[in-house]
Amino acid sequence: ESVAFFASGGLDSCTVTHWLTSHDVKVICFTADLGQPDEREGLDVVADRMKACGAVEAVIVPLRTEMGEAGIQAVQGLTRYEGRYWNTTPLGRYVTIRGVLPHILERGIKILSHGATGRGNDQARFQLVPNMLAPSVSVYAPWRDQAFLDAFGGREEMIDYCEKHGLPIRATRTSPYSTDANLLGLTHEAGVLESLGTGANFVDPIMGVRPVDAPDQPELVTITFEKGRPVSIAGQTVSDPADALELVNKIGGRHSIGINLHLVENRFVGVKSRGVYEAPGMELLGSAYEYLLQTILDRRARRIFMFAAEFLGEQLYQAYGEDLGSQLARKVVSEVAELASGTVTLELYKGTVNFAGAADIPHSLYSEEDASMSSVGAFDHKDSEGFLQVLGVGARTASRAGQIQGLL
Ligand code: ARG
Ligand code: SIN
Repeated sequence: ESVAFFASGGLDSCTVTHWLTSHDVKVICFTADLGQPDEREGLDVVADRMKACGAVEAVIVPLRTEMGEAGIQAVQGLTRYEGRYWNTTPLGRYVTIRGVLPHILERGIKILSHGATGRGNDQARFQLVPNMLAPSVSVYAPWRDQAFLDAFGGREEMIDYCEKHGLPIRATRTSPYSTDANLLGLTHEAGVLESLGTGANFVDPIMGVRPVDAPDQPELVTITFEKGRPVSIAGQTVSDPADALELVNKIGGRHSIGINLHLVENRFVGVKSRGVYEAPGMELLGSAYEYLLQTILDRRARRIFMFAAEFLGEQLYQAYGEDLGSQLARKVVSEVAELASGTVTLELYKGTVNFAGAADIPHSLYSEEDASMSSVGAFDHKDSEGFLQVLGVGARTASRAGQIQGLL
């Protein structure tokens, strides 16, 4: 039997690949190139290592552009989880699964496997996303298999196993927490981060600096969007979404934007967990996009849009990013994106992003004259007399009916 294994190249990947191979399973490893900013070694090294662990084939799937595209769509949808987390890990899982599945189907493989534990969110993503996209492929998770659990209680046993079999595990750098990475961001959790006594700035950021280490001078950055897509960033024309993300990551990171964001969140499985997140480019682009939408959406459109944003943020997190609900919410997001053209300038300073100007927004509703307190524009102050008299009737009625604790 052949099994497709989603390999990161770490200790779990080596152990599972060798263990399955020793049980007469043909393991084909797939590793996604998601533009990981923390990849110290090339992905070819990962492929060689997986083969040394027994994989009959180790495939690197190039998905950097797709990862960038997922980032642009997340900016358009402002799809943060619980108000803060840019869902970078789930987005990486969707891109990986969507990108690898065709290779699995093409080889006629019927089972896919992954190294996510039985306690986290990732197991749901590796299960539900393939179930939705390719219902005929089944999913096998060694961390939920008693035979695997009997063989390996934890990390120490895996290291012993790999050493005993001479597997080329990466020098087991004892990292104090676990990090998942792709072009959009890094997510850190577990280990010492499980204690709420550990501050978010315990994390040594990789995509930028802590606020104290950011420059003492603010930087202005101008971003132009065309139909919801960034086309120019800090004077540079951008077309490839991955290049755009890389550029905003660099600019945001050096000012500590979106670095070490802290969240005590609700996991899908119902327990609280604690994460520290880096997503400088997403935070930067997302802020610019929010300022742009402030000028475009009237209050009713904004309500529908914000519902879609919050809904999609939760859908992505919980592995429902492909279902009908998500498809419907995406229509709202893409209709709004069609109107989202214009230029926004931001001021970046020691971890904060502020508005520094906006121009050339063809669908803006904002009119300086109408908003003005002085008598100019189409808004005649005297017209408000009747309007407020009408509203005042209801206000007085509510008071006289005893619904409001009045002063008389
Ligand atoms: N809590 C986040 C999520 O569920 C991040 C998970 C990070 N995983 C990791 N191994 N560092 O998406
Ligand atoms: C894991 O448990 O495998 C990683 C963390 C998560 O899925 O939330």
